Amino acid sequence: MRKVTVIGIGAGDPRHMTVQGIEALNAVDAVFLLDKGEEKADLVHVREAICARFLTNPACRRVTAASPARDAGGDYRVGVDAWHAEKASLYARLIRDELGEDEAGAFLVWGDPALYDSTLRILDAIRESGAVAFETVVIPGISAAQALAAAHRIPLNRIGEPVHFTTGRKLRETMRLAADSVVFLDSGEALATIPADGLHIWWGAYLGTGDEVLVSGPLAEVREEILRLRREKRAAKGWIMDIYLLRAG
Ligand SMILES: C[S@@+](CC[C@H](N)C(=O)[O-])C[C@H]1O[C@@H](n2cnc3c(N)ncnc32)[C@H](O)[C@@H]1O
Repeated sequence: MRKVTVIGIGAGDPRHMTVQGIEALNAVDAVFLLDKGEEKADLVHVREAICARFLTNPACRRVTAASPARDAGGDYRVGVDAWHAEKASLYARLIRDELGEDEAGAFLVWGDPALYDSTLRILDAIRESGAVAFETVVIPGISAAQALAAAHRIPLNRIGEPVHFTTGRKLRETMRLAADSVVFLDSGEALATIPADGLHIWWGAYLGTGDEVLVSGPLAEVREEILRLRREKRAAKGWIMDIYLLRAG
């Protein structure tokens, strides 16, 4: 049977690759590299750097494909569902057409596949649709949440307390914040509008890369600086990836 290995590649520094990830990469017959367009070229470059550095198996084929883009207009869930359907048909085609009956292929997933990434859900949907049969293996990676904590030299949780993972969209919609929240995927709007009273923030952008930038402090004092940095960096690079921990009290 075909095998699909989903490898968490870490959040930007090629050295986030684990030994397990490197071994898994070298064990597959083909690695699928998804091109996300010019703006996200840097993200593809990290994947290429990882292959250049760690892929030593000369028999492994590199298969590049254009990744579908999400239509950001209209209803969010409808847009995401349509985007995932497009991805599912691409992934199914790659697995069916680019792998032989008993071959293995790898998808390189940013950070850890378990956090805010749909690759595993999409693979489940393909398997359930019967489009192609395969088994899945998952190799964990270093998530942006861990990279953030390490860069600021902080634990994410307080002693014996929970940590809440959420998104900027969710935070903006509900304005409900758990005592300690790690916020992924904020376009800046949640950060700009959340009431700052009593909140401390640890913020990081482009973690693990040469462009890494960190700010921490009481939200009321550092919010404007973070929003300015977001605008400037985004304008300069064409894209931004940032994440933050908010702690109340
Ligand atoms: C689609 S999610 C993928 C998360 C990934 N699976 C992980 O485990 O980190 C993308 C979001 O992760 C965060 N992120 C990923 N890499 C980052 C980095 N190097 N620096 C800052 N934030 C990052 C940002 O919030 C970004 O919007």
